[in-house]
Amino acid sequence: MGLPLFYALSVLLNLACVAFAESTSSALCSSKFNSKCNSNSSGLYLTLYHPRNPRSPASISDVPISTILSHDEARVKSLELRLFKIPSSRPTSLDRHYDTKSVSDPLSPGGSVGLGNYVTQVAIGTPATSYVMVVDTGSSLSWMQCRPCTVSCHAQAGTVFNPKSSNTYRAITCSTNECKSLRSATLNPSACSSNVCVYQASYGDSSFSVGYLSKDTLSLGSHFAFPNFTYGCGQDNEGLFGKSAGLIGLARNKLSLLSQLAPKLGYAFSYCLPTTKSTGFLSIGSYNNPASFSYTPLVSSSLDDALYFLKLAYISVVGKPIAVPASAYGSIPTIIDSGTVITRLQSDVYTALSKAILATMRGHKRADAYSILDTCFEGKVASTAVAAVALVFDGGATMKLRPENIMISLNNGKLTCLAFAPATSVSIIGNTQQKTFKVVYDVAGKRIGFAASGCR
Ligand SMILES: *[C@@H]1O[C@H](CO)[C@@H](O)[C@H](O)[C@H]1NC(C)=O
Ligand SMILES: *[C@@H]1O[C@H](CO)[C@@H](O)[C@H](O)[C@H]1NC(C)=O
Repeated sequence: MGLPLFYALSVLLNLACVAFAESTSSALCSSKFNSKCNSNSSGLYLTLYHPRNPRSPASISDVPISTILSHDEARVKSLELRLFKIPSSRPTSLDRHYDTKSVSDPLSPGGSVGLGNYVTQVAIGTPATSYVMVVDTGSSLSWMQCRPCTVSCHAQAGTVFNPKSSNTYRAITCSTNECKSLRSATLNPSACSSNVCVYQASYGDSSFSVGYLSKDTLSLGSHFAFPNFTYGCGQDNEGLFGKSAGLIGLARNKLSLLSQLAPKLGYAFSYCLPTTKSTGFLSIGSYNNPASFSYTPLVSSSLDDALYFLKLAYISVVGKPIAVPASAYGSIPTIIDSGTVITRLQSDVYTALSKAILATMRGHKRADAYSILDTCFEGKVASTAVAAVALVFDGGATMKLRPENIMISLNNGKLTCLAFAPATSVSIIGNTQQKTFKVVYDVAGKRIGFAASGCR
């Protein structure tokens, strides 16, 4: 990742940056935005789209599944590097571009954005303008592409945000607490350009955004405006962000959107990740009907305090726990992640699941592996032929998976594969398995809850 990112940083460090004046007017959803979002007394709801839903405002329906799977592997690799603190090497030839001590540390891999992340719309600035944003539980700092795109902006749906057209925009100076918090939020050091704080958000698949740390009014839904929201105004944005304008971070670091909104809305969020043919929701804050969820404790881990760890107790196939010692499940940590597409399981657990599935599929012809998926069958597999699989978490919370959460149809129906893969060092509950469940991240209550049939 190093080279382009360091180029961007050095360009920004050599530029004077203008801090924009602030006015007192408040922002609401624009009328265009109103149809896409709503809020009610018990929480705030935004519409979520599958990245490959042709009707998504930033659809990537033309990207082949094989590409999505290889980027999924990159996301997992970067999560592993991040958890186990393996720094990426830094191109020393670029050292001469800086003389500041703050950028002399190796860059952290961060998390990969990948192509599996769901998108929603939020509005920024005054007057409020709506933008399509990737939603990521694996990131903390939110950022969006900003004019003048000093180095580079990727193609996005709609026009790029112009901070000069917002009269509530302000750039954040270098001595602020927000600037000092950047290192823990992005895992990269901040820098300073003409006393404006420069952030560097880097993602393991070599995507990155570099720009000015800023504040502006964030509007969610038709009634909720949050002044002084801290986010990155990206001047160099390169990589795999689909056609989105940027990213909103739902991890637990104090600069994340979740943490900034928590005092107003409650320290929780919930979502239903939809299929390519439906829409789901993202709700920030207190949630409806807590009794309808089954819960598992949110586990704290010394590996990373921003990600969401939980404990997988066992997996059952047709009501019977798969044949693997219970200790295998806990032998590596487990996280739940909105942006990983395929669930990764500790390798013995994966092997046992694969065997149990093969035993239920005797009438189907086995096919060669496809990308990271190695339990594959020829042709289409009818949903009725897919065995019942349940993920059971510590405390009894259970996800009774639907056939679409278990098998994935590929190559225009010529191939069907088990949508799980083995993990090396971290087990990840991915979004194929979460699809259509309502999932609540009740951070204040230190628990994660699941309920079936959550999408509208
Ligand atoms: C709020 O909206 C959600 C999602 O549309 C809905 O399920 C819930 O019943 C609503 N609550 C109230 C109080 O209207
Ligand atoms: C936003 O920040 C400005 C400048 O620091 C401050 O004057 C204003 O009171 C803040 N608004 C809110 C609602 O905190």
